[in-house]
Amino acid sequence: MRLVRPSLEWEKEHRTYKEEWGSTRMIPSCFNLDGFDSYEAYLDDLVKKEKGLGKWLPFSSYFLVNDENRVLGMLDIRHELNDFLYRIGGNIGYSVRPSERKKGYATFILSEALDKCRELEMGKVLVTCDEDNTGSAKVILNNGGVEAHSEKDSDGTVKRRFWINL
Ligand SMILES: CC(C)(COP(=O)(O)OP(=O)(O)OC[C@H]1O[C@@H](n2cnc3c(N)ncnc32)[C@H](O)[C@@H]1OP(=O)(O)O)[C@@H](O)C(=O)NCCC(=O)NCCS
Repeated sequence: MRLVRPSLEWEKEHRTYKEEWGSTRMIPSCFNLDGFDSYEAYLDDLVKKEKGLGKWLPFSSYFLVNDENRVLGMLDIRHELNDFLYRIGGNIGYSVRPSERKKGYATFILSEALDKCRELEMGKVLVTCDEDNTGSAKVILNNGGVEAHSEKDSDGTVKRRFWINL
């Protein structure tokens, strides 16, 4: 398994992942394909956002790919925190393809993400999850997360917040 950057090579896999995901908004949101006329347009936009465009702070996005070149998961590393990310979003977002869940892939993605964060000399990272997201909380604890105070999102969702020292 390896992390790869989004590119045209992964368009078909990205689209089948989206089909499996269904109609709800993709997590992490930078992988959302809605509103783009073509995959090229999506990639152009992603490159700009990754550098920090408008409300976006600089970030890096990756697919987790297996040896059969199947996209198993998605990862977004936000290099800095603003007030919203500090309270709600955190530094790292991830998801696993619905048919591939509960096989340890999210735990692996977060551990690989932490290596990328070390390369970026981030020192410590904040990872958050919804109060009822038992799976994600376990993924964070599996990777050394130390729980801090929770915060409430504007829609009332309680976010659990964990720091991981690098
Ligand atoms: C949350 C999510 C990333 C977990 O991915 P995953 O690959 O299934 O996670 P793992 O296989 O690494 O599981 C880690 C642990 O959580 C447990 N777990 C996973 N999903 C679970 C669930 N729905 N309910 C309870 N426990 C769960 C696993 O059994 C495992 O337990 P263990 O460490 O005791 O063995 C995945 O369900 C997902 O993509 N959800 C939608 C997007 C999302 O919520 N992203 C996180 C945003 S904070």
